[in-house]
Amino acid sequence: MCGIIGYVGTRDASPILIESLKKLEYRGYDSSGIGLLDHGSRLIVRKSKGKIRNLEELLRSHPLPFSTVGISHTRWATHGLPCDENAHPHTDNKHQIAVVHNGIIENYAQLREKLKKQGCRFISQTDTEVISHLIAACYKGDLKEAVQRSIKQLKGAFAIGVISKDHPDMLVAARVGSPLIIGLGDDENYIASDVPAILDRTRRVIYLQDGQMAVLTKDKVEVFTFDGKKVAPKIDTVSFTIGLAQKEGYKHFMLKEIHEQPGVLEAMLKTRLAGGKLKLEGLDVSDKVLASIKKVMIVACGTAYHAGLVGKYIIESLARLSVEVDTSSEFRYRSTIIDQNTLIVAVSQSGETADTLAAVREAKAKAKGAKVVSICNVVGSSLVRESNGVLYTHAGPEIGVASTKAYTAQLMMFYLFGLKLAQVRRSTPRSRINKIIKDLQSIPRHYKELLKKNSNVLKVAEANSHFGCFLYLGRNINFPTALEGALKLKEISYIPAEGYPAGEMKHGPIALIDEYRAVVCIAVASHVYEKMISNIQEIRARKGNVIAIATQGDREIAHHAHYVIEIPRIEELLTPLLAVIPLQLMAYYIAVKRGNDVDQPRNLAKSVTVE
Ligand code: M6R
Repeated sequence: MCGIIGYVGTRDASPILIESLKKLEYRGYDSSGIGLLDHGSRLIVRKSKGKIRNLEELLRSHPLPFSTVGISHTRWATHGLPCDENAHPHTDNKHQIAVVHNGIIENYAQLREKLKKQGCRFISQTDTEVISHLIAACYKGDLKEAVQRSIKQLKGAFAIGVISKDHPDMLVAARVGSPLIIGLGDDENYIASDVPAILDRTRRVIYLQDGQMAVLTKDKVEVFTFDGKKVAPKIDTVSFTIGLAQKEGYKHFMLKEIHEQPGVLEAMLKTRLAGGKLKLEGLDVSDKVLASIKKVMIVACGTAYHAGLVGKYIIESLARLSVEVDTSSEFRYRSTIIDQNTLIVAVSQSGETADTLAAVREAKAKAKGAKVVSICNVVGSSLVRESNGVLYTHAGPEIGVASTKAYTAQLMMFYLFGLKLAQVRRSTPRSRINKIIKDLQSIPRHYKELLKKNSNVLKVAEANSHFGCFLYLGRNINFPTALEGALKLKEISYIPAEGYPAGEMKHGPIALIDEYRAVVCIAVASHVYEKMISNIQEIRARKGNVIAIATQGDREIAHHAHYVIEIPRIEELLTPLLAVIPLQLMAYYIAVKRGNDVDQPRNLAKSVTVE
């Protein structure tokens, strides 16, 4: 949801900013812009609607001068249409100050009216523009002080980067709610929305905290609270490599990330199940508390919500605990019944999803003393800081907007967490726990096999890519798999796709079925297999086209379905881990066949840091 990058150093800023900005394009891609100070102390801004390549084209026809300080932005529109005027950076009327912003200023309308009365002319429809005018109004020769006085008037979420014509060697940054990191280089420093943007330049980073601002020059970074108190920031060294943030020969990040799944799960199992013993480091909730909880409340959005739904089946089955799952955006506004005996589990790849953060705050306010555990991929994210414990998935950076490896890593974490709960609550016999552990250890091998034999999925995808509507049906623990399959398809192919519990088909969706629909049925070996077969027959009777996800060795299914995609045989509880792989691949192949931009689908952004 908007990417920002800033540079101050000794080298030419614009190529550095553009290259880094491209690594943030997954965060938003409807327009982009760059602002620089040349050493004659002119503030120069260039903006362009559309992807960063349009900005690059503009810079080729209107080159920028050499400059050693600058800011840049890639936008996902919230206030105002995608167009040149609404692209960042935004400036004040004297063209002295430029600002890039990620987040939403909730009181922008009041501030805008106030500033207009003071004579400010607004060029854009954005909420951000108030920040540049506000800083200019507060400016009395000290940029840090002007930013500090301005941000105190802002309500909402923001990560900002600011430069001023009067300070050609300085970059000021601040954050509340939206992520911002500082990269420490030699004779140069950076700000960025996310680590991959600067990973090829430095590994030393400061995760700026909420309510902190920073003043960067080429050889110094100082961090302050909004009250001006200096703080000693913690410097972290990022462990993942630049390769993880590059395509490495794959046509798309999404395909690369699908293929990374065996390695991600292998690494998880190695650290979390060393010697067959569960090691949930970071959980930070005692066995005594885990044994005493009465209910689990899972909150998440999108794909992470689907992982949470699978988590419900796992925990109910293994730990015999009652589990509720809600989308964060619904949870935060309903009168949920939770208390200190409820364990809140928040699931998020980015750890920055505004609705999930708000849901966690709401849960903490409602159930004083209740523990919050997050299942999260991004180290040091806002969600992690608001949780009592964190189970990191360590899946590496996920750049493709459509989540794949983060999902299967979240599922794996739910299995491990379910086993942990089962152990402390003595709710599942030791022999069954051991069997599940053994089966989990076989998953990376099965993944490799599934990904090697993907030509059948490609064939099925190509044969069905012309359908204008897809229905995904599953039962029990694979009902969430149906939801996830449908979400993947609609996100990147733009084909209307619905996920449904197969038993609900007769209550409405069956009206959709005719020879022009494709119906994906997850009919793997399970205690609801026969029920799925009956549903498939009902679809066939209405001329629907059936694609079945079935278990290897199932000889019956070919008599019912038009197409069969097989997954290896595995314990029923673990089938969601395998069944989703062909669905990810099928969505990918269909989107590619339709010529869509798989990694940056229209209207979406990787992390949704606004409500
Ligand atoms: O970063 P999060 O896991 O909190 O993000 C939640 C959703 O925005 C995300 O899963 C979204 O639905 C993906 N585009 C799904 O592919």
